[in-house]
Parts: sequence; C-alpha cells; structure tokens
Amino acid sequence: MNDNKANINWFPGHMTKARRKIEASLKLVDAVCEVVDARVPQSSRNPELDKIIQRKPRIIVLNKCDMADPKKTEQWINYYKSQGITAIAADCKSGRGVNAFSGVVKSVFADKIKQWAEKGMIGRTIRVMVVGIPNVGKSSFINKLTKRTAAKAEDRPGVTRGNQWFTVDKTLDILDTPGVLWPKFEDPEVGEKLAFTGAVKDEVVDTEELASDLLYYLRDNYPQSIIERYKIDTDISDLKGYEILELVGKKRGMLIRGGETDTLRASAAVLDEFRAAKLGRITLEGVPSDG
Ligand code: G4P
Repeated sequence: MNDNKANINWFPGHMTKARRKIEASLKLVDAVCEVVDARVPQSSRNPELDKIIQRKPRIIVLNKCDMADPKKTEQWINYYKSQGITAIAADCKSGRGVNAFSGVVKSVFADKIKQWAEKGMIGRTIRVMVVGIPNVGKSSFINKLTKRTAAKAEDRPGVTRGNQWFTVDKTLDILDTPGVLWPKFEDPEVGEKLAFTGAVKDEVVDTEELASDLLYYLRDNYPQSIIERYKIDTDISDLKGYEILELVGKKRGMLIRGGETDTLRASAAVLDEFRAAKLGRITLEGVPSDG
C-alpha cells in the first residue's frame, strides 16, 4: 500500500512560476474562487493558496457534488464557514448551484458594495479569479457560469497569455488562469485520494493496489455500496481490500487461465465504476474533526 502511495508523483515542477502567476493575477481581482472536488474537498485544494492569497476574500466551490455524499458536503460547507470561508456546492453536469454563485459573491461583498456606493461607485464590477487543481471541473464551472461569454479583453489590464476574462452579469467578471494550481503531491495520502477520483492517470499507479485501498475505505465507510453493487453475500467486515477485490472479480466472472480471478480487470471495473458514481455518492474525506 505504501509503495503505491509513494510512487504517485504527478504535476511536477514549475511551482515557483505558477505561484508568481497567481500572485500577479491576484492584483487584478477582488476575490478568489477556489474550485475543489466535493469528493476530496481537502486533497483537491492547494495548501499553498492560503499563503499566496492571504486576506483576499475567497469562495470555495465544492464541485461534482452530484457524486459526493450530500451529508458530507453539508459538513464541509459548515466547516469552511467556521473557518470564515464561504463555500457552496455545485454540479456542473446539471448546473445545480452554479446559478447561486453570483448571489453568493454579492453577499460576501455586501459591506464592500455599500462602501463603494457611498463613494459613488454604484454597480461596480466585482472581479473574481477562478483557480483549481487539474480535473476538479474548473473549466466546466466557468463554462456553465459564463456560457463562455468572453469579456471584451482590450480595455483590461493583465490579459496575459492564458489569462481570460469572462462576464457573468452586470456586476461580476471572472478571470480564468488556466493550469496554475497544483495539489500537495508530496503527501502520499493526498496523491492516493486524487488517484481514486481519476485526477491522476492510472498509468502511473498500481491499479490493483489502488482499487484494493479504495475497497478497504469503502468497507469501513460505505459498505453497502460494495455489497449492493457487486451482489456480495459474504461478510466483508474483516476482509482486506485485496480480498474484496478478488470477491468482486469472482462475482463478475473475471477469470484468467487456471481459474484464478483476474484482479487487474476487477480493479479497472471498481475504479471506473467509482469514478462514474455507480457505487453511489461517496466522499473520501471527512472534515478535520471527524477524521
Ligand atoms: P478542469 O478544468 O478542472 O481540469 O476540469 P474539467 O472541467 O475539464 O472537468 C474534468 C472532468 O470532470 C470532465 O469529465 C467533466 O465533465 C467532469 N465534471 C466537471 N464538473 C462536474 C460535475 O459537477 N459533476 C460531474 N459528475 N462531473 C463533472 P471528463 O470525463 O474529462 O470529460 P466528459 O465526461 O465531460 O467527456
């Protein structure tokens, strides 16, 4: 298990450059919107971002909430609230939650909007930079939010290569800074959780170990999801992840010559089905207080 975790080392390099890019873009915006994957709300965040953006207001979008455990998503929203951060759940497949974003930004800026109005700046545009590590659905979120209505770029500062402004409505503009965030890849636990979600290419991990580890987590946290999906009629509560994987393979009739279970095929099935939410709505990490 540990070997597998240690081998995950993706999105290498360029961190200083990326950091500088964020810092430069930060000067152009009033707030930062961080898109994370609701199934791994902590692991899909960049821990450096807190330091980089310092006291700039921030909104967290827990995206892909259609695939996450709704109870856990609620807990995460409350957790961030307790940290002074506004978080909302979004699902870019159906668009749920995305429409609330503009209103949420305005509520975060309610005091500022008043101050601006007192200074004669009525209807001042709020500029928000959207960031996220790869695969959290940042592009999908911006697409849904803006319908890709690119703002007029010529009269704006900071339109550097890759930076793109979009207009959401009269008072909200979005700055997309593509590909500048990275996960905390030195932490093997983080790496594995992102690999579960498919954010790390399967070619760089041992998929049998990955699937076994996922089944082990599910055994403890969402046992029904395995039992129902794979029609398992034995008690799995004491089984190791790999033993559950073998059971899955057997149940699916995945055999290799000699009658042994094809655990490689079973791994692919488990990972694909988890990533397609066929095992149900599952969150892989709880808020800090409940582990
Ligand atoms: P990125 O910019 O952060 O790298 O992510 P991107 O929008 O490209 O989304 C990554 C994958 O996640 C895409 O799937 C996208 O459809 C999916 N996705 C984004 N938001 C949501 C969501 O709220 N719910 C669900 N269920 N999926 C979401 P893909 O397999 O790469 O492509 P495709 O399935 O769209 O063809």
